[in-house]
Amino acid sequence: MTIPEITAAEAASMIQNGDLLAVGGFGPAGSPKVITPALAARARKEHEAGRAFKVNVVTGASIGASCDGELAAADAVDRRLPFSVNPEMRKAYNTGHVRYTDLNLSDNASHLRQGLTGRITWGIIEACDVQEVRGKLRIYLTAGIGIAPTICRLAEKGVFIELNTWHSTKVIGMHDIYEIEDPWFRAPIRITQPIEIIGLPYIEVDPDHVRGIVMTHLPDEARAMNPANEVTRAIGQHTADFLVWNMEQGFIFRNKLILQSGVGSGANAVIGALGESKEVPNFSIYTEVLQEEPMRLIREGRVMAASTGALTLSPEHLQDLYRNMNDYRGRLLLRPSEISNCPEIIARLGVCSLNTAIEVDIYGHVNSTKVCGTRMMNGVGGSCDFTCNAMLATFTCGSTAKEGRISSIVPFCSHVDHTEHYVDAIVTEYGVADLRNKSALEKAEALIAIAHPDYRPILREYMRLAGAYGGHTHHILPAAFAMHDTYRRKGDMRLVDWSEYIKD
Ligand code: COA
Repeated sequence: MTIPEITAAEAASMIQNGDLLAVGGFGPAGSPKVITPALAARARKEHEAGRAFKVNVVTGASIGASCDGELAAADAVDRRLPFSVNPEMRKAYNTGHVRYTDLNLSDNASHLRQGLTGRITWGIIEACDVQEVRGKLRIYLTAGIGIAPTICRLAEKGVFIELNTWHSTKVIGMHDIYEIEDPWFRAPIRITQPIEIIGLPYIEVDPDHVRGIVMTHLPDEARAMNPANEVTRAIGQHTADFLVWNMEQGFIFRNKLILQSGVGSGANAVIGALGESKEVPNFSIYTEVLQEEPMRLIREGRVMAASTGALTLSPEHLQDLYRNMNDYRGRLLLRPSEISNCPEIIARLGVCSLNTAIEVDIYGHVNSTKVCGTRMMNGVGGSCDFTCNAMLATFTCGSTAKEGRISSIVPFCSHVDHTEHYVDAIVTEYGVADLRNKSALEKAEALIAIAHPDYRPILREYMRLAGAYGGHTHHILPAAFAMHDTYRRKGDMRLVDWSEYIKD
């Protein structure tokens, strides 16, 4: 091997203030783990010496705590995109310490190619193996891909590889590496079923482009999911009934059910509940993240085939997968985010999307990202990619948050990620609001019917008052955020007094 083995500190010492780092992996899956903590230590030293030191960081999606957590805690990040779930980073972008760009994940690699994100200075990726073959280096990735192929091609000063022996080389063969061409030379992406292979099992680079290999032996930093509860189980059952009803109506195909499932404990529990349902036939998955429950369903044969961008599993679950890898061959593929989230493929396969909302308004707009319209939770991730292109785009959420003090169904979303034009259905523990082929006022009726019983009279009163103002969608603009404002002032949306907001 001609590539030098270096330490994380040596890699970090080559990175300069203002550099753009592009980091591989997707979520904590397959994310590099040692160079960024070394960089955080370096940033602290630079700050102590009175020198400015901040880098810009682009990743495939969110990333492990050793990147976002360490760098945010060291105040070492200027710009960050496209998605993050790390509490330290969340604090940094909600206090203005980090300039955060929330971006559709399907656009991330093409924005890099177009130069919109700036020029990548360094790439950092994690691999389970590297092999020199006929003068080229083949890099075999681990549990997540993200934008790694694009990073390897575009990083101007080169790429650092963290060669992590914790990951099993049994994952080799599960990756389908393909980079999309730019317009106007883009060919159709020929995926016509979830696990059709179109690319290579490795990334190929010129060995000179790799500036060093850092050896590691560390698990991925995914946390275990919260277990299912009464609310998520009810949502799962309603979602299952709704899918079955759609099959009976011929709106979606019984023998070709392909689901996408979103991120978080709620999404994990809902897909688990779908798997339990006797009425839902075996299905396939085309998604960006596979969490614990879908992996269980693949093992049990309920999920026939799955294409994903990442295996976001706790270390125990991932090692279990590696031990039993042969059971998954031919049924599981890992893909770069621009393929896992590709609008063309989602539309072609007729994917039914299942994402989680923070709040929904009575006309069917969805907020996935900003609590009370101002505080960024995580980001839009791939939810827009799937919702805009799905055959059936569904959002789930518990009807309330914070022990009932917040209603997830409100008159007006405090921030909109998904407009009513893309959102087909909303599911809470009280049922399904099927919004298709409904007028605005019919949507409001359907959505109020699945709000928490405490909030139905409150929302109906809003509709009654707003009706006096007429229009296609009935609103009283000064009162549209009254529930949010009441929560801010009194700590409970149930205390809303509409008369305080309606002056004329
Ligand atoms: N107002 C205020 N806070 C709310 C809220 C609301 N309407 N709804 C939920 N919350 C709070 C919860 O109380 C919880 O707070 P805590 O962390 O202080 O306990 C937090 O938001 C997360 O809620 P939870 O129910 O635990 O969420 P989850 O793990 O199921 O994740 C999302 C839900 C929406 C945050 C998550 O799915 C997400 O980030 N989605 C956007 C990206 C996406 O959809 N990607 C998938 C594409 S493939």
